[in-house]
Amino acid sequence: MGQQLGSLATRGTFIALHGELGSGKTCFTRGVVATAAPESAHLVASPTFAIMNEYTGAIPVYHFDFYRLSSCHEIAELGFEEYLHAGGICIAEWSERLGELLPPDYLSITFEHAGDDQRHIIFEANGSESEGLLTQFATLEKTVIFSLT
Ligand SMILES: Nc1ncnc2c1ncn2[C@@H]1O[C@H](COP(=O)(O)OP(=O)(O)OP(=O)(O)O)[C@@H](O)[C@H]1O
Ligand SMILES: [Mg+2]
Repeated sequence: MGQQLGSLATRGTFIALHGELGSGKTCFTRGVVATAAPESAHLVASPTFAIMNEYTGAIPVYHFDFYRLSSCHEIAELGFEEYLHAGGICIAEWSERLGELLPPDYLSITFEHAGDDQRHIIFEANGSESEGLLTQFATLEKTVIFSLT
């Protein structure tokens, strides 16, 4: 699924990931990078300690993990907003920490444990750009639960 989404995402796409520890956010990101920036796909790891990893490629991918940050003020101080306009795909683990820093248009993806090796993955579009992206994605992926808001 991450690979499908990575093939459709464009510069400026913002993907907000939600879900408890070990629910599959980094795994999904690896898929997105595999198609958006394949030359860097082998580098994708959890950026929990780095806060942000950048993967260079045809479209750069900025991979954030805000687990260790508690407020949007801390995130703002790290220069997060510059990446929103840097011409890449942004994908953020623990994106709920962003609060008011979330951009106006973003694709939200929620991961839920559904057994040891199974996940429910729920897609929600917020804004017209992400709605277009999700509509395209849904034609490729028939098994997802998604809602257009
Ligand atoms: N879609 C999936 N289906 C089944 N198992 C999965 C799926 N995605 C990930 N996993 C399993 O869950 C483990 C944890 O995944 P991952 O590291 O991506 O979680 P995470 O949400 O990034 O966790 P964290 O919050 O700690 O960053 C993986 O090693 C893999 O075994
Ligand atoms: Mg992770």
